[in-house]
Amino acid sequence: MKYAFFDTKSYDIPSFQKYGDENNIEFKFFETKLNADTASLAEGCDGVCVFVNDTVDAEVIDRHYAVGVRAVALRCAGYNNVDVKHAFGKLHVFHVPAYSPYAVAEHAIALLLTSIRRIHKAYIRTKDYNFSLSGLTGFDLHGKTVGVIGTGRIGRVFIDICKGFGMKVLAYDKFPSPDSGIDYVGLDALFSQSDIISLHCPLTEETYHMIGADAIARMKKGVVIINTSRGALIDAEALLAGIKSRHVGAACLDVYEEESDIFFEDFSGHIMDDDTLARLISMPNVIVTSHQAFLTEEALNNIAETTVGNILEFSEKGYCENELCYRCGKTESCKNGKRRCF
Ligand code: NAI
Repeated sequence: MKYAFFDTKSYDIPSFQKYGDENNIEFKFFETKLNADTASLAEGCDGVCVFVNDTVDAEVIDRHYAVGVRAVALRCAGYNNVDVKHAFGKLHVFHVPAYSPYAVAEHAIALLLTSIRRIHKAYIRTKDYNFSLSGLTGFDLHGKTVGVIGTGRIGRVFIDICKGFGMKVLAYDKFPSPDSGIDYVGLDALFSQSDIISLHCPLTEETYHMIGADAIARMKKGVVIINTSRGALIDAEALLAGIKSRHVGAACLDVYEEESDIFFEDFSGHIMDDDTLARLISMPNVIVTSHQAFLTEEALNNIAETTVGNILEFSEKGYCENELCYRCGKTESCKNGKRRCF
């Protein structure tokens, strides 16, 4: 079997090569992202292996289908970059539903602690032998209220960690879990009562820009917003306005709505064209990491193992438990698990 592997980074290769070699799957590694211009690189392959910023839209799907590609193996959980509906009847789409919720939840906490204890400032100061503490006053997490939007795998790990800090946790989920012991509230209450808000829900039409000017106006003054989920959950312009007006106390961003042409690449020495991102990064109370939350050794290994497992399961049995299909179940996720979707 041959899979075209798009948006390859050096850290992807060892684990995919290992699991691929063990299972007779040849990965053709391409540095370029997948889009209509690069789709032809997959000619002669059984499938493509893609990541968060590859574009699997109707045009790419049709081009792939025409040359015999039959599967899209996402090596990530989110699939907002794939037109799952258009793929039906043409390409089977698999994802990695979970690889390390701890990696993402722990990164969210790392960003939060860095921000509120000014570690990013202190690190630079002491490197320059500046041992002044002026301007580094933080606040205790103990006793603060955190609002968690999305209480799936990552949201729950994040909640457990917050409880360990002695924080009060409020949560909102479109599909709350009744017996989870989680204190669910409506979005209004979450916005108005939380000192810190962390996003752990998927990007959908419904959640697009869920944090916009309106939502920010309903939040406490000084609120800290953490986004390790998907960039477009937040209207970046509205966030910038909230930071400038001092209503938002800090923002911790591992994702950004226009990240696809920027994140994962080295632009040092270049002029940053994206004014909103440049302005956000220039703020002392904004921390940006470039979609790094997943990047642990454990997660990389789990991603490769599950992706190869998905490819094998589909080729051997004709179905795959991790297949995404808009036809099955009330969400887009395939609820069959035990038969081929088309
Ligand atoms: P999950 O599927 O386990 O949980 C998502 C939760 O969001 C579910 O409880 C679901 O009911 C809830 N939800 C769905 N629609 C909602 C809505 N409209 N409003 C509120 N809640 C809603 O997903 P998991 O594994 O916890 O991942 C969460 C998100 O984290 C993913 O969608 C992905 O975008 C992001 N992610 C980011 C990574 C990074 O490196 N920064 C890595 C992995 C995931």
